Amino acid sequence: MDATYLQSFLSDSARKTTRSEIRELLELVTQPDVISLAGGMPAPDTFPTEELAELVPSMLRRHGGAALQYGPTEGDAQLREEVRRLTEEDGVTGLTTDRVAITTASQQGLDLCGRVFLTPGDAVVCGLPSYLGALGAFSACGARLAGVPVDDHGIRTDQLEQRLVDLRKSGVRPKLLYVVPDFQNPTGVTLSARRRNELLIIAAEFDLLVIEDSPYRKLRYIGESPPSLAALDSDGRVISLFTFSKILFPGLRLGWVVAAPEIISRLVTAKQPVDLCTSPLCQVVAREFLVAGKLPAVIDRTRTLYAAKRIAMLEALDRHFGGESGVRWTRPEGGMFVWVTLPEYVDARALLAKSLERKVAFVVGSAFHCDGSGTSTLRLNFSFPSIAQLDEGVRRLAEAFEDVRSEIGPRQREPATTEQRPLVVSGEHALDRLALTLALTEMVA
Ligand SMILES: Cc1ncc(COP(=O)(O)O)c(C=O)c1O
Repeated sequence: MDATYLQSFLSDSARKTTRSEIRELLELVTQPDVISLAGGMPAPDTFPTEELAELVPSMLRRHGGAALQYGPTEGDAQLREEVRRLTEEDGVTGLTTDRVAITTASQQGLDLCGRVFLTPGDAVVCGLPSYLGALGAFSACGARLAGVPVDDHGIRTDQLEQRLVDLRKSGVRPKLLYVVPDFQNPTGVTLSARRRNELLIIAAEFDLLVIEDSPYRKLRYIGESPPSLAALDSDGRVISLFTFSKILFPGLRLGWVVAAPEIISRLVTAKQPVDLCTSPLCQVVAREFLVAGKLPAVIDRTRTLYAAKRIAMLEALDRHFGGESGVRWTRPEGGMFVWVTLPEYVDARALLAKSLERKVAFVVGSAFHCDGSGTSTLRLNFSFPSIAQLDEGVRRLAEAFEDVRSEIGPRQREPATTEQRPLVVSGEHALDRLALTLALTEMVA
């Protein structure tokens, strides 16, 4: 089929999504000797392969009838009870099963929120930066995005309030506020307890529903967790998305959403035409795994491995970027990512080009900024590479950084001028970046 001919059949949203920029980059990054700090994938050594090899055959014999059949859209009743219990153990008291539904992992939760709440032109408030898959899901529904800066303690609640006031003055009333409060993808930072309370007060004041997207909450290596937004929510405005992807394995494609019963009911109705139900086979696997009490050991194993990798990455950054480099980075207490801020005069895209010459890949930070800002930032992943690759990858990155600096020369090293950005932007940039970054993440394992 000729691509130009196909164009005339495409929907508006499909036409906006391009993968053209990707090919050239992929040729470089798919070479086998490239160290990728770009992906967002769990380490395969955390997967419970042996446990599953033992569990699945007998599970099929016992529960084949249900596992291989269609199931309820809201999910397997017993699995819902298991995840309800898990969520309650994390401080969400009095949680009833009608406030829980199973999703085809968190990404579907995001998509369903978009379908249920967003009409093209509606505004969503999100962090600068934010998880690209969420920006993509909202943008695919025609959302406009309003970004609020994130610092070491999460989204800036002081600026959030001011932004909402400014938006109202210009006639924009956002419906949704999207946050990843724990070990945010991409920055690794955690929203402080104080800001969690402030955020909920602001959400009530400005009539916003809050989407708490929380894949990494259980991957804490040091320190104590502040309460989840679900636990703090007293008026039913928080929709919390959880997933097994980072605590069990992503191939399971299984998550759960916790929200007010009225919201759950809308999400379930929206889910019906999408997939009828989440794979019952996967749900029975997860259910039996949980019932057998096997999840805590997998989470412990994952934490131990990632804690060591986190230290390896932070030490490598200290070693190779310490001193006068002007490079700063976050020190996340959990999760899978470190966020690097280069001196303002260095463009992360120029650094990526030099890094790829030295066979190391990362994701440029502007990809995660709905307004295209963040040009001198980048995201590094530490869950997937080996400890040796983490050190070597960061060493090469530092060499690439020196290459860029020496090309820029001392006279040009002035900070870039900060341009005035609009209050709210179309999501097209996010969709474009999503295609690019997902391809990078898929291909550069
Ligand atoms: C913040 C965030 N939300 C959602 C997802 C989607 O995860 P899944 O659909 O595998 O649950 C990811 C994946 O990396 C993520 O980082």
